Amino acid sequence: MGWTVEDAPWWTRAVVYQVYPRSFADSDGDGVGDLRGITAHVDHLADLGVGAVWLSPVYASPQVDNGYDISDYDDIDPVFGTMADFDELVGALHDRGIRLVMDLVVNHTSDEHPWFASSRASREDRRRDWYVWRPARAGHEPGTPGAEPTNWGSFFGGPTWTYDEGTGEYYLHLFASSQPDLNWENPQVRAEVYAMMNRWVDRGVDGFRMDVVNLISKDQSFGDGPVRADGLGDGSAYYVSGPRIHEFLAQMHQEVFAGRDGVFLTVGEMPGVTVEQARVFTDPARREVDMVFDFEHMGLDRGPGGKFDVRTLRLTDLKATLGRWQTGLADVGWTSLYWDNHDQPRICSRWGDGTPASAKALATVLHLHRGTPYVYQGEELGMTNAGLTSLDDYQDIESLNYAAAALAQGTDEAQVLASLAAMGRDNARTPMQWDASEHAGFTTGTPWLPVNPNHTTINVAAQRDDPHSVLSHYRRLVTLRREDATVALGRFDMLLGDDEHVYAFTRTLADDRLLVVANLTAKARQVDLGEDLTAATLVLTTHPGTVLDGPVLHLRGWEAVVVRLA
Ligand code: NOJ
Repeated sequence: MGWTVEDAPWWTRAVVYQVYPRSFADSDGDGVGDLRGITAHVDHLADLGVGAVWLSPVYASPQVDNGYDISDYDDIDPVFGTMADFDELVGALHDRGIRLVMDLVVNHTSDEHPWFASSRASREDRRRDWYVWRPARAGHEPGTPGAEPTNWGSFFGGPTWTYDEGTGEYYLHLFASSQPDLNWENPQVRAEVYAMMNRWVDRGVDGFRMDVVNLISKDQSFGDGPVRADGLGDGSAYYVSGPRIHEFLAQMHQEVFAGRDGVFLTVGEMPGVTVEQARVFTDPARREVDMVFDFEHMGLDRGPGGKFDVRTLRLTDLKATLGRWQTGLADVGWTSLYWDNHDQPRICSRWGDGTPASAKALATVLHLHRGTPYVYQGEELGMTNAGLTSLDDYQDIESLNYAAAALAQGTDEAQVLASLAAMGRDNARTPMQWDASEHAGFTTGTPWLPVNPNHTTINVAAQRDDPHSVLSHYRRLVTLRREDATVALGRFDMLLGDDEHVYAFTRTLADDRLLVVANLTAKARQVDLGEDLTAATLVLTTHPGTVLDGPVLHLRGWEAVVVRLA
């Protein structure tokens, strides 16, 4: 069932490392990370043992959403370097056996993309229909409040429609107004996207992480959605995994990957995707995508008010969700495993207690699940949230839009700051902590976002040769997946589903059985799994001196163990 040791693709045994170029390493002192900075640090990635790098967007962009707003798909933004720098990076990675996965942002472009400039030039333009244009709501004066074609609210606040005075119609943008949505109904748009993807694959890239790719197909009836907490409508029924999504993804596969030698990696970022849908998207027989990023677990610590309505996570909810995804994809399909990325707060602060011990325990839990684990830069060090205390320090468009709207509605500033400190995306975007020097070895200039003051203790140089560091623990986890077929492919069975403190499960491949038990609290816990562990072997532990004698495990605070059952 599912992949076997013989036919499993490389990405079932590999860990993928995400580089957010703006914050990784700056080679030229302008305070912004760049491609040559990454190339200078490829040995860090090789040392960690990762199989691939996912590179967040480096294409030409006005950088309104840090590169997720592309103005030229075939060029590198000067802030990140040149195409020659890009080729050099690909070469340096490939020399070390590391593949490169590009970010593919094709739900929308920047409003500065020449396609959009031409589309908005006139209603008769040959590219008019490359974006989604609609007239004002019937009976309303175009451009007046409430005249938007639908009531949908965007992901970054405000309506999803912006009125264009010049041509008297509205264009759709599920994100910022400077990120107009492409019209995937138009076959020329699809052909352009596939041709562009082919050029990058010809250049040597090994796959794509597809930004919000399950939003590309829109239900053409464009109706109103139920009203949300912010007074705007939830239009998701019209664009989340829309009517033609499977057709478009299958066509993309056919036009880009079919007929090529080599095994690529495609991962679709899919907000709102259910496990039942993920099973269809990732069924290898359908040739759509290899795996998805879903968001169910990321939504467990929020209330009805949305992302910034922060609640305490219940461990039982996390187990129920991740357990359901493991079971749902056991026979067909595959998934990705992640705690951190450039859109999420740091896991060590979010569900850990900020300590290295909690970083290691959470890492152990995630990396022992079935799926492809993703490590976001700095996660392997136990980097923590940014600790920003003033609105002036925030840079992220989502955070700034949220703060402006919340303050305008009368939410007090302390509350807004607390929400941002917990959930804002800049938490993950502070510079990578290479060493204890002034700007953490990230730049010789002034970093675009301040380095976390804790870089004096949490950094690569301090952890590289310390066998007890978070970095060394991640290195062991990466190696384990590569070398242990049960970790990569074994069946997953959750244990202690009702326990609020301990996360436990087994992984089974034929008659080989691994037991994973993690105390996700700072207090010591005793766990009786009804299984005599005296003859079991210790595969991995977060704390030296784990004792296996009898059925009761005595776990210290944040202790996680992996044992091979006899
Ligand atoms: C998801 C990306 O991860 C996020 O950073 C971006 O803002 C949105 N998609 C829009 O592209």
